[in-house]
Amino acid sequence: MSVASSKPLVAASASERLSALVNDVPGWTPHDQLLALHFLAATTGDIPGDILEIGSWCGRSTVALAWGASVCGDDRVYSVDLFPEGDDWYVNADGTHSFRVVIDGREIPAYTDQRVWDEPFQRDIAPLYRNGGSIRERFQQALTDHGVAERVTTTRGDIGLFAEAAPPDFRCRLAFIDGDHGLQAVRRDVRAVERYLQIGGWIAFDDAFTGYDGVDQCITEDIINSGKYEPGYRCTRKMFIARRVA
Ligand SMILES: C[S@@+](CC[C@H](N)C(=O)[O-])C[C@H]1O[C@@H](n2cnc3c(N)ncnc32)[C@H](O)[C@@H]1O
Repeated sequence: MSVASSKPLVAASASERLSALVNDVPGWTPHDQLLALHFLAATTGDIPGDILEIGSWCGRSTVALAWGASVCGDDRVYSVDLFPEGDDWYVNADGTHSFRVVIDGREIPAYTDQRVWDEPFQRDIAPLYRNGGSIRERFQQALTDHGVAERVTTTRGDIGLFAEAAPPDFRCRLAFIDGDHGLQAVRRDVRAVERYLQIGGWIAFDDAFTGYDGVDQCITEDIINSGKYEPGYRCTRKMFIARRVA
C-alpha cells in the first residue's frame, strides 16, 4: 500500500473514534467540529505550548483535543469549566435557566446574559442530574473511558481562577472557547487567553455566527477587526478559527 493511500485511513479511524465519542459523551460539539478540533490539535504541534479549553461540560471536546495532542509528545490539554451541579441552576422570570456556582467562597454567575431556553434545558441538561448525576464526575469518567485522563489538567472555575493557578510559564498554541456565550463573558475569556496564546497559535470559537450575538460581536470586534489575527474563517458550520499574528 502506498503512503498516499494510507492517509485517508488515518482520517477514517479518527472519524470512527469520534463517532463513538459522540454516542458516549453528552454534549453539543458535533462530529465535524470534533474532527476539526482533533486535527487542529494534532497539526499545530510545531508551535510551542499546550491546548486551552474553556467550556468542557461532560468532556466531549476535551477528549477530541486530547487525542489530537497525543500525537505531539507530552502536550497537554488544560480544561476550564464551572461544572455546575443540579442545584446550582435556577429559573429566571421568563422561564429561561441560568446558574451560579460558589468556588472557594467566590460566587461565579453564568448564563445571565445568554440564558438557556427551557426546552433545551429540559431535553439536554436536566436528565444528566437525575439520580444525583454530577457533570464533573461524568467529565472525569469520559476522560478515563477514552484514555486521556493523564493528559488533561482540569480547573473547576472560570478563566480568572485558572490564571491564579496556571504555571507561570504557561503558553498555548490552540485555545477553544466554548463557555458562557454572553458578550462580556466571551470578551473576558478572549482577553485572558491572549495572555497565553502564542503568535502563530490558533483561537477557535464554538457557536460562531449561528445566533449568539455575544459570540458574533466578540469575534467581529476582537478577532476579525483587531489586526491581531489573520482573517479567519468558519471551518465547520458553527466553528470559527483564526491564527494570531500580533
Ligand atoms: C456548551 S457547554 C460546552 C460543551 C463542550 N465543549 C462539549 O463539547 O460538549 C458550555 C460549558 O461552559 C461552562 N461555562 C459557563 N460559563 C463558564 C465560565 N465563565 N467559565 C468556564 N466555563 C463556563 C458550562 O459549565 C458548560 O459546561
